Amino acid sequence: METIHTIEWMKQITHEARAQDRIVGLVPTMGALHEGHFSLIRAAQRECAPVVVSLFVNPKQFGPSEDLNQYPRTLEADRAALEALGVDYLFAPSPQEMYPPGFHTAVVVEGLSDRLEGRSRPGHFRGVTTVVLKLFGIVQPRFAYFGRKDAQQARLIRQMSADLNLDNRVVVCPIVRAADGLALSSRNVYLKGEDRRASAALSRSLAVVRDEIARGERDTARLLAALRRILTTEPRVALDYAEIVDNETLEPIASLRGTCYVLLAAKVGDTRLIDNALIEPDGANFKVSV
Ligand code: PAJ
Repeated sequence: METIHTIEWMKQITHEARAQDRIVGLVPTMGALHEGHFSLIRAAQRECAPVVVSLFVNPKQFGPSEDLNQYPRTLEADRAALEALGVDYLFAPSPQEMYPPGFHTAVVVEGLSDRLEGRSRPGHFRGVTTVVLKLFGIVQPRFAYFGRKDAQQARLIRQMSADLNLDNRVVVCPIVRAADGLALSSRNVYLKGEDRRASAALSRSLAVVRDEIARGERDTARLLAALRRILTTEPRVALDYAEIVDNETLEPIASLRGTCYVLLAAKVGDTRLIDNALIEPDGANFKVSV
């Protein structure tokens, strides 16, 4: 595996790969890699060669009172893991390389970025779409891989790619969870002791929604009430939002129809976590993926 720090060299390498009709795949990450990231990389390796993994803790997507400085940075372990997976290129630019003095541009997916995570974290998605568009411009991948863990992020990036006629396909991969159901996240290292135990309530609450749907419940207010009943049994969990929204508009729906998501965010102690379940029509019923 080759580690690349400059934009110019990264562009040169993927330019040559495309000239040889090779299929470039991109997996954007902020590092502190775990099985969730690895699942995206394996998906990329099934469809693409070469596979580029980017590792950049993007300052623009952190709010002023958020965890940019504490965010786990484990470059050497990440590099070893990527090497073992057989990744072709690690793109690890510095903040100065990505945002040199005089950088002026931002990309915003209007509307979709104001709701849910966007409402709780103003400016967050503006930072995400800006850096992802830069990565798309640098790597120009045919396929780019994102996790359903960050469902709203994936939805925004798909919208950006369509709106700006980018020549890539956005692939969204399932959520990888710990044995107790907690969705893997680089931020889970912040969860200590009782907080770690309590955080399993998030996925438990989504599993209850899945069970209620299997029993025939279609009313989203009642489904969300069942979800809240589980979360209130854990005093360490403070719910920020829980909504059932349409997959395209991200607007709340009153009763299940089409493809939709249960999206939730909560604080467990000082750590903010997000999780979701995907609800898809399946004949007369619905299939729920937690
Ligand atoms: P990061 O949090 O490092 O996540 C990188 C990718 O891994 C994202 O697409 C995310 O959805 C996916 N991912 C994280 N945890 C996962 C899990 N448990 N199962 C499946 N996929 C998972 O998301 C970002 O970085 C950044 O916002 C980024 C897109 C890199 C832009 O800076």
